[in-house]
Amino acid sequence: MRLMVITGASSGVGRATALRFASEGYAVCALARSANKLDELVVEAVGKIYPYPTDVSDSQAVERTFAKILEEHGKIDVLVNNAGVTTGGRPIDFAMIDRIIDTNLKGTLYCTFAALPSMRQNGGGHIVNVASIAGVNISAQGDDGLYIASKHGVVAHSEALGRLVRRDGVLVTALCPGGIDTPLWNDENPYPYDEGMMIQPEEVADLIAYILAQPKRTLFKNVIFVPVVEQW
Ligand SMILES: NC(=O)c1ccc[n+]([C@@H]2O[C@H](COP(=O)([O-])OP(=O)(O)OC[C@H]3O[C@@H](n4cnc5c(N)ncnc54)[C@H](OP(=O)(O)O)[C@@H]3O)[C@@H](O)[C@H]2O)c1
Repeated sequence: MRLMVITGASSGVGRATALRFASEGYAVCALARSANKLDELVVEAVGKIYPYPTDVSDSQAVERTFAKILEEHGKIDVLVNNAGVTTGGRPIDFAMIDRIIDTNLKGTLYCTFAALPSMRQNGGGHIVNVASIAGVNISAQGDDGLYIASKHGVVAHSEALGRLVRRDGVLVTALCPGGIDTPLWNDENPYPYDEGMMIQPEEVADLIAYILAQPKRTLFKNVIFVPVVEQW
């Protein structure tokens, strides 16, 4: 049985992806801060989802969780770094800077380096980083330079690390989507285009499934996909 670890599994893209892969026979280790939402996910799943409530911005918590996953499951085939937060249009102060960088960028790095030794030891694996169009483009996201900086960091690191670890059989893909119909958008932080045109979370899960199904001779490095209504 292949083992996937996915962060941000309690909502949106992470939730859809966890359900999709569990239904396809993966053992899915689901990480998020909300234990209750992870428990609901386990109940809803057709297949095996194992909840690991974890704050990915806490390096020690990440270390403990991955040690537990490896103790309980023995290996990690796929890591999906998906947990992410936005400013939600709120003003930027030092606490907000910590929150965005610690979750989006450092959380991705912590989980990556917690998973890599096992992947290398087992002859390979795949790391899928859910970045954003904000990881490759600046103008489309208005003034939210903090989110843009965090996602540019994720894309840059994916590319640099990917070159290094490819020789160990580990592939690294950065997904760079535009607007997806998830709770990340809400009344305080509305999607600025036609909501009916947004990408659906299940479509992102489909894309991840397609990428993982490809022969290991082909690397999908950065995959950019946006609703056609977005001015990009
Ligand atoms: N929606 C879009 O338009 C869009 C576009 C481009 C890229 N993205 C990216 O897609 C990813 C998924 O976002 P989404 O749209 O699915 O948003 P979402 O519905 O708000 O889900 C975000 C997930 O991240 C988790 N999370 C947040 N902070 C965390 C932390 N410190 N530790 C662990 N988990 C944490 C949340 O769970 P808890 O609150 O329970 O921790 C939740 O499961 C994000 O990286 C986002 O930047 C989204």
